[in-house]
Amino acid sequence: MNDAKLILERCDELATLSSEPDRMVRVHLSRQHKTANELVAGWMSEAGLTTWQDAAGNQCGRVEGREPGLPALLLGSHIDTVPDAGRYDGMLGVLLAIAVAGRLDAGTLPFAIEVVAFSDEEGTRFGTALLGSRALSGTWNDDWWNFTDTDGISLFEAFHDFGLDPARLPGAFRRPEEFVGYLEAHIEQGPFLEDADRALGVVTSIAGARRLEFTMIGKAGHAGGSPYDRRKDALVGASELVVEIERISKLRGVIGTVGKLEVFPGGVNVIPGRVEFTIDLRAEFDDERDAALELFMSAAEVIAGRRGLQFHSRELYRADAVVCDLDLRAGIEAGIRAAGDADPMAIWSRAGHDGMAVCAITPIAMLFVRCKGGISHHPDEHVRVADVAAAVTAFEAAVLALAATAA
Ligand code: GLV
Ligand code: MN
Ligand code: MN
Repeated sequence: MNDAKLILERCDELATLSSEPDRMVRVHLSRQHKTANELVAGWMSEAGLTTWQDAAGNQCGRVEGREPGLPALLLGSHIDTVPDAGRYDGMLGVLLAIAVAGRLDAGTLPFAIEVVAFSDEEGTRFGTALLGSRALSGTWNDDWWNFTDTDGISLFEAFHDFGLDPARLPGAFRRPEEFVGYLEAHIEQGPFLEDADRALGVVTSIAGARRLEFTMIGKAGHAGGSPYDRRKDALVGASELVVEIERISKLRGVIGTVGKLEVFPGGVNVIPGRVEFTIDLRAEFDDERDAALELFMSAAEVIAGRRGLQFHSRELYRADAVVCDLDLRAGIEAGIRAAGDADPMAIWSRAGHDGMAVCAITPIAMLFVRCKGGISHHPDEHVRVADVAAAVTAFEAAVLALAATAA
């Protein structure tokens, strides 16, 4: 229980590192990200790890196995957040990994242990997500350098401001032979464990996702003077599409969300001339995701055609569904059994995770921890200390089970 309490205290401490006074938001390459990395590095050192910040701003640590230079089992998660975030999404997995690394007698293991606090998983600042894990896995796309934040600062400039050199980014790339696998513990971010009265679950796969930026263009004009039959109201068109996205998503069994929407020029007495919004789409299988997106696009064409609007879209992010590795999953299941649940519940992740990028270089598996009410991406995110204690037991036992099969 002591480890669990310490983990939760550290989650509270990280939650104080926010760029806004009244809500939690800590984005990629911010001042608060730098401080968070320093804190995490200190905790890694206390756990006996050698630490470094990589060329992408990921905070890393390592302890050797029974001989130096062995491939590593990588444990971790991310420390960036969404706007108005809770304090466990990502951070719990990082702190749990550090606690477990500290508990293990690493010198007896047939692999090294590395822990990583990924710099960006959410994509809050630059729209595209998984930037930390895509750097580590060498699946970086140079087009991203020109992506800008809401202040017009490019990713390239943000690297410089943080003290990183974009030209050195390939130094963060890691090779498959450096790892035996990647394990991540994470809050479930959904209600299924709680509904089943379980503290822990094993993840079978992670949903495929796509994110788009969408612009609907009409004509601004006087809210009083323009008769309805002459209006080209971009917001009414966008609203129709938002409702259609929900209808299609329910019908096709996928998950579509419009989470961000801006109206221009934004006057109380002005007909909206342009609307910019985002679409976040997830599905258990990529073909279901892509088929739903085609239906969103056809709906947009019909709505725009009927209302005399124009639209265009730009894909911000795409990550294909990932199946967790069966051997690593067996390790996680053994861990859950060691924590007292004889029949581990299997669950597919509707949320995205760093493993979606890391799987390009090494097999991945995940442990889910029950979160209250399934609430996440919200300040009410909550985990029970007893569940975190069970997760520590399970995660450590999972590592030991994998060590036993690898030996
Ligand atoms: C990350 O939390 C995501 O799934 O959006
Ligand atoms: Mn998240
Ligand atoms: Mn997360």
